[in-house]
Amino acid sequence: MKPKILGTGLSGLVGSRLTRLLADDFEFVNLDLKSGVDITDKDQVFEVFKTHSDIIGVVHLAAMTDVSRAYQESGDKSGLVYKVNVVGTENMAEAASHFNKYLIHISTDFVFDGAKKTPYTEDDQPKPIEWYGQTKLWAEEAVQDKHNNYMIARIAFPINADEPAGRQDFLHKVLDWLRNREDRSLFKDTIVTPTFIDDMAQIINKAISNQVTGLYHVTGSTYISPYNFARRVAKIFDFDGDRIRPGSFKAYLKVDPRPRQQYLAISNRKLERDFDFQMSTLDLALKMIKWQMGGI
Ligand SMILES: NC(=O)c1ccc[n+]([C@@H]2O[C@H](COP(=O)([O-])OP(=O)(O)OC[C@H]3O[C@@H](n4cnc5c(N)ncnc54)[C@H](OP(=O)(O)O)[C@@H]3O)[C@@H](O)[C@H]2O)c1
Repeated sequence: MKPKILGTGLSGLVGSRLTRLLADDFEFVNLDLKSGVDITDKDQVFEVFKTHSDIIGVVHLAAMTDVSRAYQESGDKSGLVYKVNVVGTENMAEAASHFNKYLIHISTDFVFDGAKKTPYTEDDQPKPIEWYGQTKLWAEEAVQDKHNNYMIARIAFPINADEPAGRQDFLHKVLDWLRNREDRSLFKDTIVTPTFIDDMAQIINKAISNQVTGLYHVTGSTYISPYNFARRVAKIFDFDGDRIRPGSFKAYLKVDPRPRQQYLAISNRKLERDFDFQMSTLDLALKMIKWQMGGI
């Protein structure tokens, strides 16, 4: 019999790939709205933990991830973004602590302000500049306050071969633009850290199996601008990348002044050392994904 894990957000972009990759190793109990459980309801969450007392751990991915919606709800603690990201996480952490279960909480690079030009490490002080990042930071703090057997895994810019309905990663958006020969301009003066979800799955597997605790950046090994990302995609997937043009973040901010992080280079040095695992470079991840997609 496979060890059982309780998960939230398993139908999402990251969770769906994660569960597919770990299906041979674990049995997942999915706790989401479709299965009738709302993580913002504490009684429902405790009930599920009581029912599944044989779980070996919890992976908590569920979140309201729509940054634009979060922006509309800025400062609103009765809004859905606060409720799911903060109250939902408080409930998960309290229940995991009460039932003495190991918890992996998935967080984000958006807890940083994006002003630092060198890679952020786990020692850097988070400083969110918009509501989504703020609520995700409060979620991290809730886990730290309410539980003591947890790992916080900050991920960034997840990419993978799958395309779950309605949840397209940035790689698939770029592939669509390239296939349709669309003209696109992408920032050349911002930095992201693309992360291969398949690598993350291996880290989650190791973390659960060994009950690793602490804060980790579970991120890829390449820091790159979205413009250069798309050009790499075009090169590796054999498309003409000339319709992808360099755009300016600074110029865009003048038209749409919503707060956005500019430099999100995220160091994975601590993770690679403690897990003895090398996170893929972008080129390696793209080549693997191309192969997984059947070489298109
Ligand atoms: N995608 C990114 O670029 C990115 C980057 C960094 C970090 N992250 C983090 O990674 C995690 C997963 O992100 P994702 O992109 O996979 O998210 P996603 O595709 O937006 O999926 C969100 C998941 O949360 C579930 N959910 C939302 N509200 C819920 C509620 N009240 N009760 C129970 N479940 C609820 C959704 O269930 P339904 O399907 O039923 O709606 C869905 O499974 C999040 O914690 C996010 O902050 C994501």
